[in-house]
Amino acid sequence: MGKPLRILTIIGARPQIIKAAAISHAVRTQFQGRITETLLHTGQHYDNNMSQVFFDELGIPRADISLGVGSGAHGAQTARMIEGIEHELAEARHDVVLLYGDTNSTLAGAVAAAKLHIPVAHVEAGLRSFNKAMPEEVNRIVCDHCSTWLFCPTETAVKNLVREGFATDLSKPATVDRPHVVASGDVMYDNSMRFAELAAVRSNVLSELGLEHGSFILATVHRDHNTDDAGRINAVFSSLLELCRTHGLPVVLPVHPRTRKMMASLLDPNLLQAVGSEADFHMIPPMGFLDMIALERGASLVVTDSGGVQKEAYFFGRPVVVLRPETEWVELVEQGQAVLADADPGRIATAAAAFLRNGVPPCPPIFGDGHAAVAICSHLLGIKGHL
Ligand code: UD1
Ligand code: UDP
Repeated sequence: MGKPLRILTIIGARPQIIKAAAISHAVRTQFQGRITETLLHTGQHYDNNMSQVFFDELGIPRADISLGVGSGAHGAQTARMIEGIEHELAEARHDVVLLYGDTNSTLAGAVAAAKLHIPVAHVEAGLRSFNKAMPEEVNRIVCDHCSTWLFCPTETAVKNLVREGFATDLSKPATVDRPHVVASGDVMYDNSMRFAELAAVRSNVLSELGLEHGSFILATVHRDHNTDDAGRINAVFSSLLELCRTHGLPVVLPVHPRTRKMMASLLDPNLLQAVGSEADFHMIPPMGFLDMIALERGASLVVTDSGGVQKEAYFFGRPVVVLRPETEWVELVEQGQAVLADADPGRIATAAAAFLRNGVPPCPPIFGDGHAAVAICSHLLGIKGHL
């Protein structure tokens, strides 16, 4: 056996820590001796319930390098990350920099690695909202165009890249100027399948909150587009309260720290008081992953602006009202499991009522076979001639 492939994995925000669990597990259980993984945590998310809880629950090894950049404006935060990542890449020898998704941690890793000519593997490549006002759209486009391997979770993601001029030829070794576009499946699907049974055994969140399986609404809100605009955050919260009252269903809302902060400054005091005093409106701290998937499985309806939560609802056959004008997960809308309602109270109410009345159409497996992590590791090794 030749030298192992040395991967530097960069994570920072909650969904990336969760996504990293799948490949990290595959490396330790199926690619021992052939791949080594060094984990760098930028520190973009740092509260215990936004970071450490996922290492503990999902068995992710402690980060080898913690940059501790914390929060800040986009430029300042990303710059601190680039500086820290560049320093690590100059100090240690890594063959590949592995990046997830579309956060500022992704952007920083892509820019630092590409400038030092270290090949980038992008997991969750090819997603597009076609809305460059989203910081995530800018981050993912830059990362895709700096990448040597683009691991796409869906066929739509592959098509988006082809439309941007990427070739799908895998016959020659991948380079940054001739990257490989690979339909790998979605590592989040791997995780949901792997942890669903554990969540069923370990999570008591439904009984703790007094919820009945199939009789509550799960909501999450954290997009800056919704939280940082007074009109939109008030429309979203009043819509959620209205759903709770109209349908007589509890609403469970694990509150993201950005949202917690913006609620205090932007929510109408009467609405703040109303959601705070409604017994069936459960505003709770951010959840660990096992409790979160237990809530997704138990909900009759999911209302969210999260990318990851939209998909997990689909994995568990739950309908989704999407609090955005568009989504990267267009298949869910085309097939009828999700409805785009933006922050529009009328559209939210109509879509929710229809799902609660009619249920959700079947959810075909469009996110791979639950083994995306192994596919990604195998492809990286094959390309480097390590198999
Ligand atoms: C980030 C990502 C977004 C992703 C989301 C996942 C970017 C541009 N955005 O958004 O794509 O969907 O993570 O959750 O990278 N805060 C805390 N404690 C923490 C972390 C954040 O209090 O542990 C607060 C701070 O006030 C901070 C704010 O939340 O300013 C926003 O955090 P930030 O990481 O900048 O953006 P997110 O909204 O979390
Ligand atoms: N999640 C969680 N606890 C919560 C909310 C979300 O564990 O309170 C998980 C969720 O199950 C999914 C991921 O976080 O795996 C989604 O992250 P988030 O919504 O923060 O970001 P996005 O996916 O929109 O980038």
